Amino acid sequence: MEAAATTHPELGEVLVPAADLERRVSELASEISTDYPQGVLLVAILKGAVPFVADLMRQITVPCEIDFMAVSSYGSATDSSGVVRILKDLDSPIEGRDVLIVEDIIDSGLTLHYLLKSLRSRQPTSLEVCSLLTKPERRRVELPVRYVGFEIPNEFAVGYGLDINEKHRNLDHVVALNDDS
Ligand code: IMP
Ligand code: MG
Repeated sequence: MEAAATTHPELGEVLVPAADLERRVSELASEISTDYPQGVLLVAILKGAVPFVADLMRQITVPCEIDFMAVSSYGSATDSSGVVRILKDLDSPIEGRDVLIVEDIIDSGLTLHYLLKSLRSRQPTSLEVCSLLTKPERRRVELPVRYVGFEIPNEFAVGYGLDINEKHRNLDHVVALNDDS
């Protein structure tokens, strides 16, 4: 692994450099464009998926719309509890639509498990998940995830949308928090 590109004391090892993000996002956009010739509705989960979905949608070549949801999962800064509250719902119904949820990271999977249940009940034609990152070691529920950017080790990651207490979302790469922070 290369050294961290930033000197912030909270930040440790680079998990995904900017160039790798750029390359993988292009690959995902091309797969999605092939799989949805009829077009797709991207549902991005605020706030972490914002940089990812912005880069992804600009490389999708089929008709593409975007909507947003914000959820809060009760728990500590680094642990999800599985109890999820919808802070901002979709602007429009998704019945009869091909929906692709765009997430920053799947950790325990509990947030997405809840979201899938909630969105499925609204009867979209199809419902799939595209997550930039996944931490397989931490999974507590089985989830059908159609598109994954990168598998990362069991470390708390920040950057490219991911935060710790709202910080570091603006980094152009993904970096692990220092163990001692
Ligand atoms: P889950 O419900 O445990 O899968 O957690 C999902 C949410 O927790 C993600 O959408 C993130 O907002 C947050 N999260 C989980 N792991 C990380 C991480 O390593 N860095 C930053 N946020 C994380
Ligand atoms: Mg977060």
